[in-house]
Amino acid sequence: MARLLEGRAVLVTGGGGEIGGAIASRFAREGASILVADLRPQAAEAVAAAIRANGGIAEAFVADMGCPEDCARAVEAAAAAFGKLTTLVNVAAAESPEASIEALPLAAWNTALAVNLTASFLTAKHAVPHMRAAGGGSIINIASQLGQIGVFNRVAYSTTKAALIQLTKCIATEYGPDNIRANTISPGSISTARSAKSYGSIENARRVRGPAHLLGRQGRVEEIAAGAVFLASEESSFMTGADLLLDGGYLAFKGELPVKSK
Ligand SMILES: NC(=O)c1ccc[n+]([C@@H]2O[C@H](COP(=O)([O-])OP(=O)(O)OC[C@H]3O[C@@H](n4cnc5c(N)ncnc54)[C@H](O)[C@@H]3O)[C@@H](O)[C@H]2O)c1
Repeated sequence: MARLLEGRAVLVTGGGGEIGGAIASRFAREGASILVADLRPQAAEAVAAAIRANGGIAEAFVADMGCPEDCARAVEAAAAAFGKLTTLVNVAAAESPEASIEALPLAAWNTALAVNLTASFLTAKHAVPHMRAAGGGSIINIASQLGQIGVFNRVAYSTTKAALIQLTKCIATEYGPDNIRANTISPGSISTARSAKSYGSIENARRVRGPAHLLGRQGRVEEIAAGAVFLASEESSFMTGADLLLDGGYLAFKGELPVKSK
């Protein structure tokens, strides 16, 4: 069967994490070569090594996406490793403390801005010339359903994810004529260690967060990876400046669900 991403050269930031790792692995299975960039060297190497063990092409790269020089280095490293860059997936996000606006330190706000937003501006800035040279490309920024509503105690996260959606529309606007598409994915609550942090355990998070979604459960990392494959491939060739909402219905309904009769 034809693979959807044959010949693509991809940078995945935050590729050592759960959603980033799932995207990197699925992209590799679809024929893409991946530079797995992450702050955590061992996590990046583990994902790259697993891809190689399955016959795919991947390299690990250590980068702090909160650092402008590292944003440039990661893009250039991907282009150098594979001779071109066709696809950029920005997944890395800072772990901001949960705190009210009054309590959140300015430093935490600035870190969230740098990693969740400025890095996507900078990687796009450096990736565009490579994509233009390749005849086009696809930029995918992982936003959040929490970037589309007000959220208690997560002002930096929610605000940067909202701005990421707008940044992505601007990238799509400027580079559509170069055949460079840019879209966001807004996941609902996905079952990962990160999303479980405030709930004590993955099982607890599933129990509490699941019912907030119309499908009655949290999402799986593979379901986000499937959306990313769609956005990176020709299957979405007429889609740019859009947000792909993969939230199990989280944003669609905020009333009270009817009590099920026995
Ligand atoms: N899990 C969810 O419920 C959920 C929901 C909506 C959106 N998202 C988004 O999906 C993405 C991945 O989430 P996840 O649950 O897989 O989390 P994760 O913690 O497993 O992955 C995040 C990765 O980013 C890396 N990272 C953090 N700061 C970095 C930096 N400065 N430079 C480079 N790498 C850095 C981490 O080391 C980690 O490997 C994030 O953008 C998150 O906001 C997650």
